[in-house]
Amino acid sequence: MILAPSILASDLSRLGEEIRAVERGGAGMIHVDVMDGHFVPNISMGPLVVEACRRVTKLPIDAHLMIADAEKYLDAFVDAGATSVSVHVEALPHLQRAVAHLRTRGVSPGVALNPSTPIAALSEILPELDFVLVMSVNPGFSFQKFLPASLDKLRRMRAEIRARGLGAKVQVDGGINADNIKSIVEAGAEIVVAGAASFGGGDPERSTRGLIGAAS
Ligand code: DX5
Ligand code: ZN
Repeated sequence: MILAPSILASDLSRLGEEIRAVERGGAGMIHVDVMDGHFVPNISMGPLVVEACRRVTKLPIDAHLMIADAEKYLDAFVDAGATSVSVHVEALPHLQRAVAHLRTRGVSPGVALNPSTPIAALSEILPELDFVLVMSVNPGFSFQKFLPASLDKLRRMRAEIRARGLGAKVQVDGGINADNIKSIVEAGAEIVVAGAASFGGGDPERSTRGLIGAAS
């Protein structure tokens, strides 16, 4: 299991220190939530922040694009230093083109699903993906509650990938904490995003270590 703290819940005035703290705690990836106020009801950060993260860590940087017209901005996130980029199936009519483009730019492509989007929406694109992102809250904010139906969705997603012999990893994002992380990993999540549970408690190093411990 890879833990990917989301800097959306961090103290952005101390971004470098916050990232170094979760890194010491065992984080395997830094998750950057990009929001445009159109696809989701919040505005957050863009390529400039990915670039700032890139300067303070060697960990992979995962850009989660919750934006309309994501295709227009893919190169900006790749150039800023993202290692992986996920786009939302609900926001992108030409998903295959975007995924193929990320691949040619040497970046890991992923596709994200909102809670109400069935896994069947990924059926055609699945063989081309490095990961699928199962949202376990409606995207837009940190500090929301995990939607319990996501557990079964994770199981079905993982089962389909296995049954078809594909290589996509399953990522989960939203409302994950030390109490539910074990069941989430057991359901099939391999990359676990955590915002509030990594940064919300005042000691990100300790919280990160605690989450990783609670997962096994
Ligand atoms: C939600 C974002 C998440 C969020 C997770 O729209 O995609 O990455 O930061 O935060 P928590 O773990 O607090 O739900
Ligand atoms: Zn996210």
